[in-house]
Amino acid sequence: MPSAAAALIEPSLKPLLTCEQIATRNAALGHQIASDYAHRDLTVVGVLKGSFVFLSDLTRQIYLAQRALGLSGSTVSCEFLAVQSYGDATTTSGVVQITADLTNPIEGKHVLLIEDIVDTGLTMSYLLENMATRRPASVKLCSLLHKPARTQKQVPIDYLGFTIDDLFVVGYGLDYKQRYRNLPWIAELQSE
Ligand code: IMP
Repeated sequence: MPSAAAALIEPSLKPLLTCEQIATRNAALGHQIASDYAHRDLTVVGVLKGSFVFLSDLTRQIYLAQRALGLSGSTVSCEFLAVQSYGDATTTSGVVQITADLTNPIEGKHVLLIEDIVDTGLTMSYLLENMATRRPASVKLCSLLHKPARTQKQVPIDYLGFTIDDLFVVGYGLDYKQRYRNLPWIAELQSE
């Protein structure tokens, strides 16, 4: 039996987005991206760690959509970079640091940044500017989630999964203190 103290420390999870909702949205995004990048090679850049589950599902949906649309000539390559903007807290520090950089140049490439969530916008604002200095052919942003209530810097989200309220969410790549990234759905983290 867990003690009363342990029960208080262990946060509860309130379901927010189901596997089915996420999969349906991913298929639609994959279709939109495949047709927008028809006849162009695409470099997706996943922002670690939070985007790894979304990127994995989305890129496969892009593949399926390309085949369905008869666009088998367009390639998708996957790159990653890691940023630190939160530490272990649920509020942003505002300081963005690239902790692992791209391993291939993006000069002349059509880049699609893949993010788990745009919260204050500080991370993406920094990364979009940073990517632009590397002279890609184009840079767009795809984010699974957006919390418009917390915007500090407006960033253009070209492809968006879901708009959510001002909640702290976990699962499907998103964490709290490195936990819950492997939750197959998205849940609100409740403090009690
Ligand atoms: P921003 O710079 O405030 O837009 O924050 C972006 C980063 O903060 C995301 O990539 C996440 O890592 C983290 N983040 C923001 N909101 C949440 C949340 O609700 N759950 C988990 N991580 C979050």
